[in-house]
Amino acid sequence: MQGSKVLLVHQTGKFSAFGYKCTHYGAPLVKGYLGEGRVRCPWRHGACFNVLIGDIEEFPGLDGIPCFQVCRVTSRRYTPMVIK
Ligand code: FES
Repeated sequence: MQGSKVLLVHQTGKFSAFGYKCTHYGAPLVKGYLGEGRVRCPWRHGACFNVLIGDIEEFPGLDGIPCFQVCRVTSRRYTPMVIK
């Protein structure tokens, strides 16, 4: 986990952290489209993932994305921890 890239999202009062790349062809999800509780891949194939549990909501993703529990370490620092 240490040194891995994750995306950190703050939505409806909760933080979630999840994998950086789409599981289809590896598009960077940081350039994707964030909806309520989901992120859509920026590339035209359109895979969609749940940002809280990582499940695929729309194909063609090949697998879910990893999700992490976010813990507050200091007043300015958050650390993702593996939950899935
Ligand atoms: S690379 Fe994300 S859906 Fe194809």
